[in-house]
Amino acid sequence: MHVAIIMDGNGRWAARRHLPRTAGHRAGAKAVDAIVAAAVRQRVGTLTLYAFSAANWSRPTGEVSALFTLLRRHLLTQTRRCLEQSVRINVIGRRDRLSADLRQSIEHSERATADCPGMRLRIAIDYSAQHSLIETCRRLQAENSLDRSRFIERLAEVDHAVGPSPEVDLLIRTGGEKRLSDFLLWECAYAELYFVECLWPDFAAPAFEQALAEYTRRDRRFGGIDACAAAGAAAAGISRNG
Ligand code: IPE
Ligand code: IPE
Ligand code: MG
Repeated sequence: MHVAIIMDGNGRWAARRHLPRTAGHRAGAKAVDAIVAAAVRQRVGTLTLYAFSAANWSRPTGEVSALFTLLRRHLLTQTRRCLEQSVRINVIGRRDRLSADLRQSIEHSERATADCPGMRLRIAIDYSAQHSLIETCRRLQAENSLDRSRFIERLAEVDHAVGPSPEVDLLIRTGGEKRLSDFLLWECAYAELYFVECLWPDFAAPAFEQALAEYTRRDRRFGGIDACAAAGAAAAGISRNG
């Protein structure tokens, strides 16, 4: 199962406490640990977290640099925890606009956890689905090929993804907004969407488990008809045909 999360609401969490936005991001980083551990317990196969969108560069420089400092620090501590939990880290998104320090931390985390057989933890940094799709098309055009499997291969390459990016089963967005904000647009074609008011720093294991429970109650039809209706249609066919 692939769960993707748009971790939104750090700024509002801080504002409600009369704290600077960066305090919200620090609290948000702590929430990540609990959710990763909960996902491992729930046997999620892949967890993709939206940590920094390409559009987030438009925020004040101080906030952006605080976010990158946090991301770097968090990668270091997360790597230790991931090794304990057999979790493999993969950072997706552009790398050409990241600092050399952050790039090194990313490469270190990916190398250190490369043999971990457990859950795959993908962290999206400087990520824009639209950018990934355009860049993928540009590469395919140069190869003069447009085959679905080649497309998926190239998309993974563009994203620095280890292996093809799996389709998202459940997309969770905290913070109350009901939009995708340029996240995994291709991979979310048939994702179940789950929007929750809770701000990201307050999102804890029980709320995550509630989202997974809601997912199990959804009826995924992928353009077909549900199992009951299919059985009914088959039975009607049998009786009509004698
Ligand atoms: C999400 O929280 C974290 C990032 C986008 C990096 P926000 O910072 O967007 O928080 P709000 O939406 O302003 O509350
Ligand atoms: C989406 O949140 C990006 C991340 C959570 C990293 P934003 O706060 O940037 O999205 P918008 O601006 O509400 O669409
Ligand atoms: Mg936001």
